[in-house]
Amino acid sequence: MNLELCKHKAAEAALDYISLGDVVGVGTGSTANVFIDLLGRIKGRIDGAVASSNETKRRLRELRIPVLELNQTGVLPLYVDGADEATKHRYLIKGGGGALTREKIVATASEIFVCIVDYTKMVDVLGAFPVPIEVMPMAQSSVSRALVGRKGWPQLRTGFTTDNGNVIVDVRNLDLVDPPAEESHLNNIPGAVCNGIFALRPADVLISGNENHADLYR
Ligand code: A5P
Repeated sequence: MNLELCKHKAAEAALDYISLGDVVGVGTGSTANVFIDLLGRIKGRIDGAVASSNETKRRLRELRIPVLELNQTGVLPLYVDGADEATKHRYLIKGGGGALTREKIVATASEIFVCIVDYTKMVDVLGAFPVPIEVMPMAQSSVSRALVGRKGWPQLRTGFTTDNGNVIVDVRNLDLVDPPAEESHLNNIPGAVCNGIFALRPADVLISGNENHADLYR
């Protein structure tokens, strides 16, 4: 299957959730980039966008889409973003691109979160993809010890710094049978700024793209 086409099918279906005059929250990654390109074609219908990363901000500006700050806009009507793994219950792992903290902030500040993925991201249970955790540099060791305490296998993402000046620790082997519970546990580790489980605020609509059509879960 042509994955670009699958991403395009999902991104195209997300356009249906845009209303005239919306300020749209925009995610990060290759699937979000397809959505940004489509947004560029209908930019006259929206008032602007809030970016979840510096890279997304750059792409939006390149297409002359006005970029607003979340502190100016308040609650957004819509957030559109990709994911690294998704279940049909709309639980996600995100952060493969390292933008998880700003993504979770914008998703949480939005009334509707539409997640767009190609079909290869769909799983029955989360966890084959390691959970990214954004960590303050001084807490890298202490957070890693806490993760080992939860039976996790943490690994520092080498040579990577987030837009917020932090590091990413990718963790395998966490127990993700109950994603909201594990997300809550990880939220309580001091120095772990944000984790890539999106279950306490799942997607409201999940769109999984194939070459010929898109499947909707809501
Ligand atoms: C960025 O930090 C991530 O959360 C992305 O949304 C996620 O990794 C999906 O990216 P792709 O669309 O490139 O697979």
